[in-house]
Amino acid sequence: MMKRIRQFFHAVFAEVSAEDRAFLEENLNRGQQALFFGMSVPDQCHALRTTHTAIAFANNAEEKVDLPLLTRCALLHDVGRRDGAFGIFWKCFAVLFADLFPSLAKAYGDGTHGDSVLHRKMCVYYHHAEIGAAMLLREGFAAEAEIVRRHHKAPAEDDPPELRILRMADEMN
Ligand SMILES: [Fe+2]
Ligand SMILES: [Fe+2]
Repeated sequence: MMKRIRQFFHAVFAEVSAEDRAFLEENLNRGQQALFFGMSVPDQCHALRTTHTAIAFANNAEEKVDLPLLTRCALLHDVGRRDGAFGIFWKCFAVLFADLFPSLAKAYGDGTHGDSVLHRKMCVYYHHAEIGAAMLLREGFAAEAEIVRRHHKAPAEDDPPELRILRMADEMN
């Protein structure tokens, strides 16, 4: 619950600083920046926090990590949640709905209850990884797309270290 409260306050007071912009400039090309800024500001801030946590994990990792790739994936992992498709109200609602009524929320996400605003929002909530991966692939960012597509999937043997670190960092932010 504390994590949810923290996420709510982060979302309300979210702001991308000049320092963040410089960091984005350094790590993403034009096309990737366009995808990044297509997210809502709270999601942009979540991605930035996730990225800094991921970099800290990578710096302490014993295995070899592709840091530029990890950085791009962490910045872009939630681009499937487009601004407007998932603003602060719907983000809070979806998180609570999924926490409190997981089966019902999933059924809405999968379209079991037909097409409605609630279905479309829960669909983005549950399927933003695939949506984001398809967006990245369309822009030609295949390596990033593959990791983004799997960021909410259950851990697997063949997960690359960048994906494992991204999951851990995402969970903390
Ligand atoms: Fe996600
Ligand atoms: Fe995330």
